[in-house]
Amino acid sequence: MKPVERLDPFDADRFLDEFWQRRPCVIGGWLTPEPLSLAELLETAELQGLPTRLVRGDQERADWSLLHGPLDDSDLPGDGKDWTVLVQEVDKASRKVETVLDAYRQFLPDWMLDDIMISHAMPGGSVGAHVDAYDVFLLQAAGTRRWQLARDFDSALDRRFEMALLENWQPQTELLVAPGEMLYLPPGIAHHGVATDECQTWSVGLRTPSGPELMFFLAESLAIRETAGGRLQVARPDPQAPARVTPALARQARDLMKAALELKDADLEILLAQFLTSWRLWPREGLDDDPAAVASRLAEGIPVRLDSAARLALSGARGKESLMVNGESIDCPAPLARELANTRLLFSSWLDYPDALENLIETGAIGDR
Ligand code: SIN
Ligand code: CO
Repeated sequence: MKPVERLDPFDADRFLDEFWQRRPCVIGGWLTPEPLSLAELLETAELQGLPTRLVRGDQERADWSLLHGPLDDSDLPGDGKDWTVLVQEVDKASRKVETVLDAYRQFLPDWMLDDIMISHAMPGGSVGAHVDAYDVFLLQAAGTRRWQLARDFDSALDRRFEMALLENWQPQTELLVAPGEMLYLPPGIAHHGVATDECQTWSVGLRTPSGPELMFFLAESLAIRETAGGRLQVARPDPQAPARVTPALARQARDLMKAALELKDADLEILLAQFLTSWRLWPREGLDDDPAAVASRLAEGIPVRLDSAARLALSGARGKESLMVNGESIDCPAPLARELANTRLLFSSWLDYPDALENLIETGAIGDR
């Protein structure tokens, strides 16, 4: 594996052409997040019920331990080394953290941005060598982390631990990532990051569904609509064993399933947009989403922002895009749909489309917390 290249200053076109889903790079001079203190991180996690873990251990000693949250100060080891607190979904709880996602929304699909996980590590802290199935940007907010990477590796897992850690870790290259720099990793690159001093890393995680996950959703949507294409037919049962599932029946089942998936492109695009914006939605409660209050803010000229957990996609031909938010189709003009997709802001022009505005509010995409 070659040494990791630098992309500094960041250039979205160059990143997409040369690195995206292909090879790692270190991006400098782009984002400079303001770290959260450990106390602030733990408090946010507790107040908002965010998934939290404490990982302790060392790769050489292979002495990993994992404690699931909620965590407080008394759960943190007193020795101040070799441990990491990890809090997922912090973007859903902190506007300051969510702002970072806006930078990614300029060149990556909104619906692909899954969450920002913040890890706060003491010197020597690490979560062990592992491989992720998704793209990730590992943004160093404070302190320095040494990353070891491998493109070719033994994928056997160490079964002694709950975390999916590689059993035989052989790094192929390594690098230091300093505050304000980030390491981009495409899926399938094994990695191991160790804090060289007390450090904080923000992982901007992306996610796309697998084929079976897509089929699961499509099948459910299609099943409630119709059974076009018919049902399995049993031509002539064999009286010796009428309960037998025969190879011919299996072949017929395969053809039936293929026929059910033969959708027009436009129909499939809509179903896909519906799935991508409703899949893994972070449950949001307690939004102050009174339609009259939203309308009066817009009338006063105050832009209204989509909630950080809302997922959005556009479908349809260029210039005639339709809007999908949180799995619901919103019937509004294409320019409005594009504006919302680009800014995640609603302006007073939405007041001309009260039904669309009401539908948007009903999806749980708008409101103050
Ligand atoms: C970390 O932030 O400590 C680990 C993130 C990762 O390896 O994916
Ligand atoms: Co990882």
